[in-house]
Amino acid sequence: MYKTILIIILTLLLFSCKDNGQEFKTETIGIPSVPDQIVLTWQQDPSTTLTITWRTEMAVEEPVLRYSESSTASAGKWTKKEAESFTFEQTSSWFHTVELTQLTPDAEYHVVIEHPVSPEQFFFRTIPAERNQRELVFLAGADSRTRRDVRREINILAALQDPDFVVFAGDFINNALSENEWNEWFDDWHELLITEDGRRIPIVPAIGNHEVAGGFLQPRSKAPFFYNRFVTPEPRNYYTLEFGPDLAIITLDSDHTKEISQQNQWLDNALHSQADKKWKIVQYHVTAWPGARSFDEGIPVKIRENWVPIFEKHNVNLVVEGHDHVFKKTVPIRNNKEDDSGVIYIGDGAWGAPLREVKNPENLWWLDEALSADHFWKITLSKDGESLRVEPVFRPLVKAFILQAEGSETAEGSETP
Ligand SMILES: [Fe+2]
Repeated sequence: MYKTILIIILTLLLFSCKDNGQEFKTETIGIPSVPDQIVLTWQQDPSTTLTITWRTEMAVEEPVLRYSESSTASAGKWTKKEAESFTFEQTSSWFHTVELTQLTPDAEYHVVIEHPVSPEQFFFRTIPAERNQRELVFLAGADSRTRRDVRREINILAALQDPDFVVFAGDFINNALSENEWNEWFDDWHELLITEDGRRIPIVPAIGNHEVAGGFLQPRSKAPFFYNRFVTPEPRNYYTLEFGPDLAIITLDSDHTKEISQQNQWLDNALHSQADKKWKIVQYHVTAWPGARSFDEGIPVKIRENWVPIFEKHNVNLVVEGHDHVFKKTVPIRNNKEDDSGVIYIGDGAWGAPLREVKNPENLWWLDEALSADHFWKITLSKDGESLRVEPVFRPLVKAFILQAEGSETAEGSETP
């Protein structure tokens, strides 16, 4: 039976067909392109929705997934959804996206992306909608760019934290229009941002200068991979996501495809509407309080003049920054000085980008700690919503080494010089 179905599918796919004027290409051997580069994002409430996007090298006629709360559910207990397919000018691939809605909060869902030979299977977890369900763990980082081996190592470290999601403040790759670089990035994410038991980890992305041809103050069309491959709330470069009753995360665009001051009113309104949240976190790419580069550069100055007073007005708790490729944590800042009631900024993006020389925190009032070190931040919201634990995770982890007694045989499994 299986073989018969497969032969029928393969025969059908030997022919090209047209849909809405768009010519579909198929693999010459007739097997539909294999789904890969799965990425999970949110467009709406992370307690009840999830957006799943994947890639195929060629167009496929019926990109479909099925999902269920049980991996062993009988055939009738799975819900099928057909994906919306699209491509764009700067890529040779096709992308397929499905938004799952009306999910149960704090539940696990098993997913199968259908393929006659190589279906993709994984599960995901929705966010609790109420307090006192469980801790929420999420990671914050940025700047994964060019040291791919380091990026992969950090990806592995990230998945080991078993996080609910990753907040990523831009500069994923180096060349905004290099499909090869994006493919490597998504290949690595697909392979490694998954827990040992098969749970995929969603991402909350922000745009950085390296996502944009030209870097700064460019139209959306200059960042085709960022805008097409991360399906987030429109307009996709600035948006709010609420994680249960106690946490809101706001993403901004630090002058890449939207001018900083043009987001002031939106930011003020967004934070006002989150006034009931205990924890308000903001992320964007270019640091306002640099750990490596100049304090007086244009964008840091603009952010301090435009957004920082709005953060302080609404008592934002924590801001995630990137761009400088060092580890830094500021003192709490209010009115341009250290103040216990102020906002703490963490950064500055070292998830694989080349490290920079760090400023000496002893000489600069805004820096509490700074190191030239690969890292990300692990943030844990307590079960009762009362505390937020913020800790850095550095790469590499301290590695073990083995000393062998003289004349003894090499221990089993140990490395020989
Ligand atoms: Fe950057």
